[in-house]
Amino acid sequence: MKKEKKRFFDVITIFPNIIDSYSSESILGRAQKKNIILIKSHNLRDFTKDKHKTVDDTPYGGGPGMLMKVEPFDLAVKKVKKRLKKTRIIMTAASGKKFTQKDARRLSKYDQIIFLSGRYEGIDYRVQENIADEVFSVGDYVLTGGELPALTMIDAISRMVPGVLGSKESLKAESHTEEGVMEYPQYTKPEVYKKWKVPDVLLSGHHKKIEEWRKKKQNKK
Ligand SMILES: C[S@@+](CC[C@H](N)C(=O)[O-])C[C@H]1O[C@@H](n2cnc3c(N)ncnc32)[C@H](O)[C@@H]1O
Repeated sequence: MKKEKKRFFDVITIFPNIIDSYSSESILGRAQKKNIILIKSHNLRDFTKDKHKTVDDTPYGGGPGMLMKVEPFDLAVKKVKKRLKKTRIIMTAASGKKFTQKDARRLSKYDQIIFLSGRYEGIDYRVQENIADEVFSVGDYVLTGGELPALTMIDAISRMVPGVLGSKESLKAESHTEEGVMEYPQYTKPEVYKKWKVPDVLLSGHHKKIEEWRKKKQNKK
């Protein structure tokens, strides 16, 4: 089997622990131990120049809240970006384009992806205009920060990287593998719980009938 190149995910954030905690567990943790991917957090405050490590300031033109400054992101990206063939810088924003499974598949081919996590009222627009290659939203709602969106995207992208999931089969029947098609209903033991029964066909051992039932039950958009 051809040896896969390692994928690097870097997250620039003022809350690196959020990234480290999630990414060290379960499938992502194991994939890192197997050296297939590496997920690294970088504290944005390490790229400030004043003694208070200021990352935010008031918006020009007035308005509520604080905005994250452009310079720390610029310096952080310069430091973190590796000299690899395919790199991508992704900014998280509720106003970005909606992240989909198609994006996850496409981005799984990149050597390094750097995620920029906002907080407060968001990030100075010059980051979007001059630093980010793409701006993604994970849904039509506003979260308090870009860490969960970055982790959401890293998780979805990593599953597409060969070797991260135990078996190729687990990807095959999954929701969204084929655009607009959701997974069929699945059941496990016991056969009856309270009065809730597993459909007879799944207990029949008749593979062709099971396949037909599953096809019928797949939820198509
Ligand atoms: C409180 S939000 C800022 C919301 C911004 N004022 C607006 O109205 O769009 C702070 C940060 O959380 C992240 N964020 C919030 N919702 C998000 C979403 N749906 N998708 C991606 N990132 C999001 C972004 O990094 C954003 O800079």
